Amino acid sequence: MSNYGAIIAGTGSYLPERRLTNADLAKLVDTSDDWIIRRTGIKERRIVAENESTATMGTAAARHALEAAGLTPQDVDLIVCATITPEMQFPSTACFVGAGLGLDTTPAFDVSAACSGFIYALETANNFVKSGRYRNIIVIGAETLSRITDYTDRQSCILFGDGAGAVVLQRSTDASRGVLYASLHADGNGWEMLHCATGSRNPVNADLIATRRQYMQIKGREVYKFAVQRFAELIEDALHKCQLSTKDVKLIVPHQVNQRIIDSAMERLGLAPDKAFVNIDKYGNTSAASIPIALDEAWRAGKVSPGDIVLFVAFGAGLTWANAVVRV
Ligand code: UT7
Repeated sequence: MSNYGAIIAGTGSYLPERRLTNADLAKLVDTSDDWIIRRTGIKERRIVAENESTATMGTAAARHALEAAGLTPQDVDLIVCATITPEMQFPSTACFVGAGLGLDTTPAFDVSAACSGFIYALETANNFVKSGRYRNIIVIGAETLSRITDYTDRQSCILFGDGAGAVVLQRSTDASRGVLYASLHADGNGWEMLHCATGSRNPVNADLIATRRQYMQIKGREVYKFAVQRFAELIEDALHKCQLSTKDVKLIVPHQVNQRIIDSAMERLGLAPDKAFVNIDKYGNTSAASIPIALDEAWRAGKVSPGDIVLFVAFGAGLTWANAVVRV
C-alpha cells in the first residue's frame, strides 16, 4: 500500500419527488400513522416516478457529488454502485450510470451487500485509491425498493423508500484524511431473515408470483435484535481499532434502519441520541442509499466539516454488517 489518503471530495443525493405518507399506507394496509411513528420514526418516504429507476437516481446523485467536488464526469476513473434493486439483472447499474454520465470507457461495477452495500463499496473504492490504481472514484448507493415491496404486507411496506446518494472518493497525498478504517462482515446462514427470492434458485414463474415471492420478505423482530447488537459492536470496534474516544467522533451516520433501533443502540453505548444523524422520518429505509443520502444531508447542513471524524455503521441482508471511520 502507498501513503495515499482516500478522501471524500464531494457528496450528492437524489430523492424522488413523490411522498408516500403513513396516512397513504393506512389506506392500503391495517396500520396507522401513530403506530408507524412510534415503532419506526418514519413519517413518509419517497417513491420513484414511472420513468425513474435505480440508475436514473444514481446518475443524478453522482452528478451532484461531482459538482460538489468540482469535477466533471471525464475525471472519473471508476464507478462502483451498491444496490439490491439493480436497473436490470444485468448489465450492472453502474454501467447504466456511466452511460448516463456520458462515459463510454470508464470501468463500472455493482456491489451487492444490501443495507451494508455503501460501506462495502466505499471500502472497495478505498483500496483502489490507496493502492494508487485510481484517482477519482464515484461510489453510489441507490435503491428503488418500492419496486420489490409488497404493499399488502404491513410489516415491511411501512419501512422502505427510494433514493440515491453518492460520494467522490479522491486520492490525496494527505494520508491522515479519508477512510481511516473499515471492517466488512457477512454470515450467509442468516439469508432467510431478509431476502427477495427471485434469481437462479427461484426463476420468475407463475408459482413465484402467486406466492408473492417477487417481493422482499423480512422477519422484522429478528432483524431488529440483530441490528441493535451489531450497531453497538461495530461502534465499539471502530473506536477501539482507531484508538478514538466517543468525544473524537463528530457524527455517527448509521444505516437508517429504524429510529428505535438507532436510539436503543445509542443508549446501550451511553451516547447522546443527537450524536447519530437521523433522517429516517423523511425517507424511511433506503437500504444501500441511506448512508450516502444522510451523509450528503449532514454535510450540506454543516453538521460535518473538513477534519471531522465521521463513523458509518450498517447491517442488513446477507446477513452483512460493516463499519467505516472517515476523517472528512
Ligand atoms: O435494514 C434492514 C431491514 N429492516 C428490517 O428488517 C426491519 C427491522 N425491524 C423493525 O424495524 C421492526 O421489527 C418492525 C418495525 C418491522 C416491527 O416493529 P416491532 O416493534 O418489532 O413489532 P412486532 O413485529 O413485534 O409486532 C408487534 C405487533 C404485532 O401484533 P401482535 O402480534 O402483537 O398482535 C404485529 O402484527 O404489531 C403488529 N404490526 C403492526 N401493527 C400496525 C406489525 N406491523 C404493523 C403495522 N401497523 N405496520
